[in-house]
Amino acid sequence: MSTLELQDIQGIIVRGYSNLEAASFVLLSIQNAVSARHWLGSLVDRIQNGHDRPSDTCLNLAFTCDGLKALGLDQATLDTFSTEFREGMTPPYKSRVLGDHGDNAPALWDWGSGIHSPSIHIMLMLYAADEGKLISFYDELANAFGSGGVALIRKLDTFMLKDEHGGFREHFGFRDAIGQPIVEGLSKTGSPDNTIKAGEFILGYPNEYGLLTETPTVSAQRDRQNLLPEGQNGPEEHDLGRNGSYVVFRQLGQKVQAFWQFLDGVTQQSDGTSDPKARVQLASKIVGRWPSGTPLVQAPDRDQSKLGDKNEFAYHHADPHGFKCPLGAHIRRSNPRDSLDPQPGTPKSIAINKTHRLLRRGRTYGKPVADSLNPQDMLKAEETGERGIHFICISANIARQFEFVQQTWLNNPKFNGLYSDTDPLVGDRAPGGVGTANAFTAQAQPVRNRVMGLPNFVVVRGGAYFFLPSIRACRYLASLSI
Ligand code: HEM
Repeated sequence: MSTLELQDIQGIIVRGYSNLEAASFVLLSIQNAVSARHWLGSLVDRIQNGHDRPSDTCLNLAFTCDGLKALGLDQATLDTFSTEFREGMTPPYKSRVLGDHGDNAPALWDWGSGIHSPSIHIMLMLYAADEGKLISFYDELANAFGSGGVALIRKLDTFMLKDEHGGFREHFGFRDAIGQPIVEGLSKTGSPDNTIKAGEFILGYPNEYGLLTETPTVSAQRDRQNLLPEGQNGPEEHDLGRNGSYVVFRQLGQKVQAFWQFLDGVTQQSDGTSDPKARVQLASKIVGRWPSGTPLVQAPDRDQSKLGDKNEFAYHHADPHGFKCPLGAHIRRSNPRDSLDPQPGTPKSIAINKTHRLLRRGRTYGKPVADSLNPQDMLKAEETGERGIHFICISANIARQFEFVQQTWLNNPKFNGLYSDTDPLVGDRAPGGVGTANAFTAQAQPVRNRVMGLPNFVVVRGGAYFFLPSIRACRYLASLSI
C-alpha cells in the first residue's frame, strides 16, 4: 500500500469538514491571466491540505478545463486531461448520458451551461465553523478578486440540516452522508468490501485494477523549476495530476412538497385519508434507508434509529429478491455492493462494484420546508424559495465512476431485472428522451407493489466538471508564463 502524500493533497479529498458547518462554493471567471496567476500564487499557502484538520476556516479550489486554458495552460498539456473533463458536462451527447433533458436541460440551468453566465473557470470551496466566520473569510478573499484578475459569477451558499442526533439530513428529511467508501491509506479503517484503493479517488496511486489511473502531464521543459514530480512514464514528463483528482459538481434542486404529496396520494387509505406510516414506509423504500438512516435490508419493518449510521451490509444473501430493500431503491442502485451480475454475492461482484464508487462531499442548500423535517409538517407548510443539494463527488475517473453510476445504474430502466423504473428519488423519467420510465417497484410477496407516474422530484440547476489539483500543481499553475 502506498503512503499518501497528505501534505500535497487537498483536504476535501480526505474529509468532508463536517465540523465546519458553514460553506460556500464560489464560481469565478478569469478576466486577466497574469493577475489571476499572481492571485493564485498568493493563495497557494492557504489551501487546506489533507494532513491537518482545520478547526476554523479553510479553502480548497478547483478549475474547469476552460479555467486552466484561461490561466494559460498550453493546449498540448490540456490534451493530457481526461476526455470527459475536457468536454465538460454540457455537450448534447453528454446530456443524453446524464439524462439532462426536459426540465434538466443545460439550456435551463442557472449556471454552467455557458448560456446565461460567462464560462466558469475556478471554484473556491470555502468552509467555516459558523456563518459569521464564513462571511468574514469570503469578504477577505473577495476583496482581492478585482486586483486578482478574477470576477465573481455566482456564490452558492449552503445550509446544513441536522437532526437531534447530530446526523446530516437532506431536504426530503432523510439522513445523508452515511454510505461512503473508506479510502485505503487514510486513518479510518473498516470492512475490506468497503475499503477502496486510493487511486480510485486520488491520481498517482494504484486503483482497483492495480493500475495508475491516467493522469495529466506536462513536458519536462514546461516545468523548468521542477515544481512537479516526475511522470509515470519517465523524466520527459512531469506529473500534473499526482495527488489531485476530479470533482463533479451538480446543483440539484429538490421539490420537497411534490415528493411528499405524491407519496401521500399513492398511500391513501380507501376512504381517502392519509396514512402517515405507509407514506414514510414507501419513501424509505425509495431511498433504501429509513429517515434515521437505518438500512431497510437490516430493518425492513420499522425505523430503528440506533441502526442509523450502519453501513456494513450487503444485499444478495440477505435480500436477493428485494423484499426488504427494493432492487431499484436509491442506495441499492447507487452502490449495489454485492448484487452485481454475473456472480452476485461473490467477491467478483464486489470487485466490480469497487470500480464505480463515489466519494460524496456535497452540502445541502436552502432553508428546509419545515424545520422539523417531519413529512406531516412539510406537507402543511408553504413551500417558498429554493432548496436542494450541491452534489459534489470526487473520483479519479469521471466516466467510469460518476457518469457510469448516473447512466448505467440510476437512469437505467432495466437495472437489476426491472424494466421501466429509473432511480425513484433522482432518476430521469424519460431516459434517452424516448418513452417514459416512471414506475417504482417494491418487490413483495405474494405480489409486488408497483407505483406508476412518478414525477421528477429533483431538477438540475447547474453543474460542471472540475480538476482539483494537488497543492504543488496549484503552485505550478500559478507559475505559468504564456
Ligand atoms: C437531490 C438529489 C439526491 C438526494 C436527495 C439523495 C439522497 C440520498 C440519501 C438520503 C442517501 C442515503 C444516505 C447514505 O447512504 O449516505 C443517499 C445515498 C447515496 N447517494 Fe444519493 N441523493 C441524491 C443524488 C445522488 C446522485 C446524483 C448520486 C450519484 C450520481 C447519488 C449517489 C449516492 C450514493 C453513492 C449513496 C450511497 C449509497 C451507499 O453507499 O449505500 N445520490 N442519497
